[in-house]
Amino acid sequence: MTNLDGARVVLGVTGGIAAYKAIEICRRLVDAGAHVVPILTEGAEHFVGRTTFDALASEKVQSTLWDETSPIPHTLLGQTADLIIVAPATARLLADYRMGRSDDLLTATLIATRAPVMIAPAMHTEMWEHPAVQDNLTVLRDRGVHVVDPEPGRLAGGDIGFGRLAAPRSVVAHAERVLASGDLSGTHVVITAGGTREAIDPVRVISNRSTGKQGYALAEAAWMRGADVTLISTVDRESPIGCTVVSVESASQMQDAVMAVADADIIVMAAAVADFRPASPAGEKIKKGAGEVPEILLEKTHDFLVDLGQQKPNGQVLVGFAAETENLLENARGKLERKNLDLIVANDVSAPDAGFAHDTNKVTLVLGSGEEIDVPLGSKRVVADAIFDAVVGVRGTFP
Ligand code: CTP
Repeated sequence: MTNLDGARVVLGVTGGIAAYKAIEICRRLVDAGAHVVPILTEGAEHFVGRTTFDALASEKVQSTLWDETSPIPHTLLGQTADLIIVAPATARLLADYRMGRSDDLLTATLIATRAPVMIAPAMHTEMWEHPAVQDNLTVLRDRGVHVVDPEPGRLAGGDIGFGRLAAPRSVVAHAERVLASGDLSGTHVVITAGGTREAIDPVRVISNRSTGKQGYALAEAAWMRGADVTLISTVDRESPIGCTVVSVESASQMQDAVMAVADADIIVMAAAVADFRPASPAGEKIKKGAGEVPEILLEKTHDFLVDLGQQKPNGQVLVGFAAETENLLENARGKLERKNLDLIVANDVSAPDAGFAHDTNKVTLVLGSGEEIDVPLGSKRVVADAIFDAVVGVRGTFP
């Protein structure tokens, strides 16, 4: 189930080469459960055919204000929409929309709606950077229009630059976000993910079994609920849409990256940070040599979650994880208090289908108030949302 399930979405397509990608956007919206009503401008019909959209969308293409069967199609479309998306949006569409012009069905529908509007511009780099275009975007953003920025890449005519339409999966994810609760909007959320790697020598490391799946699911969930997300990660997975990813390897690199954003509104330390590291990593690869087995002396890493707990700014929600194989709740409660956390996620990593590397998890949330919330076995994304439900509850208790 997605936020688009059952939503009535008007998909406006304007005349740019990226119009061909609107076909995939249409398909993905329908797959996500949306009822998609396509509007093609005259320009769009130079690039893509009506038949394609007729076949893929939930209703036939509309493109004129002068439809005999529906004398006022723009008000009907505008009034009944839950969301209007324009993808791709040309420079001309931005200018018309900014000025309130309504000389075709799409612009008239945009003026005749109270539904949220999301536009995904696409144009050549020179046009994108033109002050008139940027000025129009600023005005539209100020009016509450959601803008999915274009990406760098190949443009029409073989040029390479900024201005390419955002990827269809990104446009659809942004649409879902517009329709989501937004209960974390305006917040900066920092999430750590994965197990740290501590060097023995330039080729060998000590690490743990964490794969970062729960941390990435937390990042996706926080972004979807409206947050600005910084994901500090040790793993090489596809970046979650909309998140700023900072790649690190060791506990001390993770510490530096987290401390640089320690004023965030919410910090979730989902990473499995090493407790020990080789005291003096070798500068060169340790050779097998004459068969001597090296002894690796370990030292403790610094527990920077303790630092975060001590310097916690007013109103910040600090969340830790306790990955345990025994005495789950007792250990978790101890860490909650010792590290001055607001919430700890008690994770029995030896339970079936839960913990490291699994796609599912089962946790107990222990709150500073003493309350305990059992989250049953579910996908890591569902568990992530349960964690943020609890975080939103904790935030609500702050003065
Ligand atoms: N943590 C941290 N820095 C460390 C070690 C842990 O910030 N050097 C954080 C983890 O990200 C996690 C929480 O502290 O959110 C608990 O980590 P865990 O390893 O379970 O607990 P420890 O305090 O190391 O206790 P123990 O070794 O007794 O399990």
